[in-house]
Amino acid sequence: MNNFKKSKYYITTPIYYVNDIPHIGHSYTTIAADTLARYRRFLGDEVFFLTGTDEHGQKIQKTSKERGISPKQLADKVVENFKGLWKRLDITNNFFVRTTDDYHIKCVQEAFQKLYDKGDIYKDEYEGWYCIPCESYYSELDIGKDRLCPACGRKVDKVKEESYFFKLSAYQDKLLKFYEENPDFVMPKTRYNEITSFVKSGLKDLSITRTSFDWGVPVPFDDKHVIYVWFDALLNYISAIGYAENKEEFSSTWPADVHFVGKDILRFHAVYWPAFLMALDVELPKHVVAHGWWTVDGKKMSKSLGNVVDPNEMIEKYPRDAYRYFLLRNVPFGLDGDFSEKELIERINAELVNDLGNLVNRSLTMVEKYSDGMVKKPETRTDDSMSAKAKETFDKVKKDIEIFRFDEALSNIFEFIRFSNKYITQKEPWGLKKANETDELQNVLYNLINAIKFIAGIISPFMPDTADKIWGQLGFDKPIREYHYEFFLDFNGFTSLKINKQDVIFTRIDNIKSENKDEKVKEKADKISIDEFFKIDLRAAKILDAKSIEKSKKLIKLTIDIGEDNPRTLVAGLKEHYSPDALIGKTIIVVANLKPAKLMGIESNGMLLAAKDGNGLGLLTTNEDVKPGAKVG
Ligand code: MSP
Repeated sequence: MNNFKKSKYYITTPIYYVNDIPHIGHSYTTIAADTLARYRRFLGDEVFFLTGTDEHGQKIQKTSKERGISPKQLADKVVENFKGLWKRLDITNNFFVRTTDDYHIKCVQEAFQKLYDKGDIYKDEYEGWYCIPCESYYSELDIGKDRLCPACGRKVDKVKEESYFFKLSAYQDKLLKFYEENPDFVMPKTRYNEITSFVKSGLKDLSITRTSFDWGVPVPFDDKHVIYVWFDALLNYISAIGYAENKEEFSSTWPADVHFVGKDILRFHAVYWPAFLMALDVELPKHVVAHGWWTVDGKKMSKSLGNVVDPNEMIEKYPRDAYRYFLLRNVPFGLDGDFSEKELIERINAELVNDLGNLVNRSLTMVEKYSDGMVKKPETRTDDSMSAKAKETFDKVKKDIEIFRFDEALSNIFEFIRFSNKYITQKEPWGLKKANETDELQNVLYNLINAIKFIAGIISPFMPDTADKIWGQLGFDKPIREYHYEFFLDFNGFTSLKINKQDVIFTRIDNIKSENKDEKVKEKADKISIDEFFKIDLRAAKILDAKSIEKSKKLIKLTIDIGEDNPRTLVAGLKEHYSPDALIGKTIIVVANLKPAKLMGIESNGMLLAAKDGNGLGLLTTNEDVKPGAKVG
C-alpha cells in the first residue's frame, strides 16, 4: 500500500438491484446519505459519496429472460431509472458504481483469489432445499414443516451442489471482539444488540458461489462457478475507489465513515462484510447505520396492492425539498415509518409555509418597507440573543447528526425558526418604525436577516433548493455552497446587504383531492339578508399568547388583544394544523359578539375565522400593523 492518508469523509448507500424500479424506500436511503454528504461539506469536509447498482444474480437473469433481453441489456435499461431519479432529486454522489463494470469484476476476482490462496475460501458441497422452477435455495425456516417453496408453494427438493465456502466461522470471535471495542459500529443501538446476539449464537461457513446460473462474476480459476451476489455486491464499496488498482483514491477515502442500509440487509453489512474485510486485511468501516421500512397509508408497499410510491410522481406534485423534508422529518431514523400524502401536505402547510416561508417573507417585506431594501450593520449592537440561540441550535443539530437523528435535527432547526418568528412579534418592528427608533429598528432587522442567513445555511443539507431560494433573496456575492458553517454562525459577518425579495418560497397546498364535492355544495348555507350579516361583529385581534390544552387533541388556548381594556381568552381547534408558537403574533379575524362557551373547562369568548378543506386549515389573518379591535366588514 502507498503512504496516502485518509482525508475524505466516505458515505455509501446500498447498491440497488436492477430488477425493480426505484421507489420511496430507495429514495429514502439515498436522500439520507445525500443530506449527510451535504452536511459534511457544509462543515468543510471533503466528501466522497457513493451509490450505484447491483446487477448480477439469478433474479436479474430470470427477469431478463422473461423480457426476452440479455441481463446486461436489462441492467443498462434499469440503471437509467436510478440515475435519472438521482438527477431529478439533485443527489450529489461523486461516483456511480455498477457491478458489471470492469474494475469491479477485477476487484471481486482478485479478492476471491486472495482469500482462496490464504485458505479462507475452500471448496465443498452445499446442501439445501431447492425449488427447481424458482431456481432458489431456501432454509428450513423458509419452507416450514410441509417443505413448500415460500415463493410458489411447490414442493422443494434437498439438493447437493458443489460450492466454494468462506470460512465465516473462523471470524466469530474476532467479530465479537470488534463489536465490543466499537459499540457504535452498528447503529442504532437496538440493531447493535440484534447483530451481536446473532453472532454469539454461532456462525456457519458461507456458501459464496453457485453453479445453477451463470449471470455473475466467474470464479477466476473455476468458471463453472459464479460468485454469489452478496460477495460480489459488498465489494463495490472498495472496488469503486480503486482497491484493486491500489489507487491513491482508495487510501484517501477508505475506511467508509458510514454505510447506510435498510434493516433487512443489515446482517450482510454488519457480519459478512467486516469478516470479508478482516480476511482481506483491510480496515473496517466506522459505522453501519440501519433505517426502518416505509409502509404507505398503513399498508405494506407492494406491486399487487398497487400502492408503491414512485418518487418521480411525488416530486412532480410537490416541491422536491418538501419530499426530502417529509421523509427525514416524519420518522426517527432507524424506526419504521408510514408515508401518507395527507401528512405530507399538512407538514408543507404548517411548517414550510407557515413557519419558514412566513418568516422569510415577512422579514424581507419589512426590510423593503422600513429600510428601502437595505440591511446595514448597526454601529452599536444592542442585542445578541439571536446569535446565542443560533449557536445553540447549531450544536444541537451537530449532535443529532452524529447519531443520525435527522428528524431531531430538523425539529431543532424549526424551533429556531419559530423563535425568530416570535422575535418579530416581541420586537414589533412596525412599532419601532412608527416611533422613529431607528437604531433599534436597524438592530432588529440586522438580527433577523442574520437569523435567515443562518437558517439558509443550516437547512441547506436538508432542503438545498430552499436554501438557494433564500440565498438568492439575501444578496450575497457568492453561491451558498461556497460558505462553511462559521460564516452562517457569525451574526456580525457583513456590513450591508441589498436584499432582493422574490415570490414566497413555499405555497400552501389546497384542494389536492376535492373529495365529496356534492356534500360541500349541500353544506352551503341558505341566503341571509344584509341585516343578518351586520349582526355579526367581526374584529381584527392579535394573538398575544397560545398554549396547547394538554388533555385535548385539537384545542389551543389563545390570549388575544381585541382592542378592549383586557385581553380575551379564546379556545380554538387548531392543534392539528398549527403549533402554538407559530400562532403568536398573528393578527386574526374574530367573531367578537359570540355568546361565551366552555370548552374543556375553559371559557371561550369569541370565535376565530379559518378556511378548511380536506387537506387542512388556514387561518384568516390580516397585516400585522392593523390595530387590534379594528372592525372587519
Ligand atoms: N442489492 C442489495 C443491496 C446490496 S448492498 C451491497 C439490495 N438491493 S434492493 O434494491 O433490494 O434494496 C436496497 C435498499 O432499499 C435496502 O436498503 C432496503 O432496505 C431498501 N428498501 C426496500 N424497500 C424498502 C421500504 N419499503 N422502506 C425502506 N427501505 C426499503 O438489497
